[in-house]
Amino acid sequence: MSNIIRILHLSDFHFRKDREDDFRDVLMGLGKTVGDIAKEDKAPNFVVLTGDLAHSGTKIDYTLVKKWIDGHLLKAIKNFKKENLLIIPGNHDVDRNKINAHGESLEEAIRSKGQERISKLLRTNSSLKSILSKQNQYIKFANTYRPSSRQLKVPWWHNIYKHSENLSIGFAGIATSLVAYGDDKKDYGQLVISDHQLEKIFRPLEKTNIRIALMHHPVAYLIGDERRSVYQYLLNKSSIVLRGHLHEQDSMTIKTPDHSILELATGSAYEDRKYDNTFQLIDIDTDNLKVNVQYWIWKWKGLEWIIDRNIYKNVKNGNSEFQIEIFNNHKCLAKKKVKKKKR
Ligand SMILES: [Fe+2]
Repeated sequence: MSNIIRILHLSDFHFRKDREDDFRDVLMGLGKTVGDIAKEDKAPNFVVLTGDLAHSGTKIDYTLVKKWIDGHLLKAIKNFKKENLLIIPGNHDVDRNKINAHGESLEEAIRSKGQERISKLLRTNSSLKSILSKQNQYIKFANTYRPSSRQLKVPWWHNIYKHSENLSIGFAGIATSLVAYGDDKKDYGQLVISDHQLEKIFRPLEKTNIRIALMHHPVAYLIGDERRSVYQYLLNKSSIVLRGHLHEQDSMTIKTPDHSILELATGSAYEDRKYDNTFQLIDIDTDNLKVNVQYWIWKWKGLEWIIDRNIYKNVKNGNSEFQIEIFNNHKCLAKKKVKKKKR
């Protein structure tokens, strides 16, 4: 078994009918580039999409998303299992036309009440149904990639991947879209994840070794009370956070005396020509717990995806390496520690 787990990290497509023609070069090119990477014996084990797949969360948007994912992205990776496509929603994966006054008042309650009240609302079927009505099309779409035994009723999820006898990976699919308007001016500092959601996602991952949290927004978009508590939660429970939304590539390690997380943001795969179109290829070396991030960027001049060698002053070859922390005494590390003691 290979010691490398490879993740193709893409985000922020904003698929919509009126931009269909403009997508062509960038996204058809992306499919081809992923195919070329896969042919070099570097096929990803997982494809992670960190939100804003659609622009308005409508059925027609998702028809376009699905057409591209099935016809170009997944088709480019031979023998890729569709359940290894991991998707979370962004603020544009909500259809605000589908929420009624009752749903809006429940959203307001979620923003203004404490965690106990939020948990109660999210545990009540009728309230949950009203709050999630704006994401029905997203959930239907996401379920087309999930086995019948793991169909979603809510936009958050967890997934455990057993890499070897001694090593399991826990993926945490966090929905920051629960009360999103879709408009940045209204959403900044107003989003809620909730303790309820975090518990549901992370509790089943307790025995996993490497935990990768997926979330669309940076923590700064959360409501005041949650900004610190969610960061603390992620710091204690995750090794890596993958996110999108800001349409910029960014890599940083956040460290406390107790633990650290690696936060990797990728830019927009394609929204329009205002932003660089980018993606990341992430290799996790399970032997020494190092993560290599390779940064890719679209060049309009030449109409091609290339490795981005200019993203950081100190990243000359477009690849950056980080150390990560893990959980539950992964055996490979335990062995190394024993050896060191004997010397
Ligand atoms: Fe977004």
